[in-house]
Amino acid sequence: MTGIPQPAFYIFKCQQSAPPGMPKPSCVSQNNPESQELMQYLAQQLMMKGIIATAQPVQTSCLNRCQQGPVVLIEPGHTMYVNLTKEKIDRIIDEHLIGGKVVSEYLIDDSVWGEPIPPASMAR
Ligand code: FES
Repeated sequence: MTGIPQPAFYIFKCQQSAPPGMPKPSCVSQNNPESQELMQYLAQQLMMKGIIATAQPVQTSCLNRCQQGPVVLIEPGHTMYVNLTKEKIDRIIDEHLIGGKVVSEYLIDDSVWGEPIPPASMAR
C-alpha cells in the first residue's frame, strides 16, 4: 500500500519583519520592497512549475542570520541561501529543486554557517 508521498523539500522562508525604525535588519523590510513579495513569489513559482506538493514552502520567523537576509533554508541539505531576490528564487527552483544542483554562488558564507554542533555534545 502506498501512502501520500512526503515532500522532497521543505523551503523555510524567513518572514520576520522588524518594526519601523528598528536598527536590526530583518528579512522582510520596509526598506526593501521586494523583500515583502518574496514569500508570495516563491509560492506562485512553485505552483506554476507544478511542484508545490513536493517542494513545500513554509513561512518561519527569524532563522538567526538576519544580517544576510532575506534568507531561505532548504531541507534536507541544510542549504541556506542569502540576500534573496525573485531572480535568485527562479534559479534556486530550476537548478536546486528541479535540477538537483545547489546554486553555490547564492549560499551563505561559511564564516557565518559553520558545522552544526550535535545536540548530544551540548546537552546538560
Ligand atoms: S529576520 Fe530573517 S533571519 Fe533573522
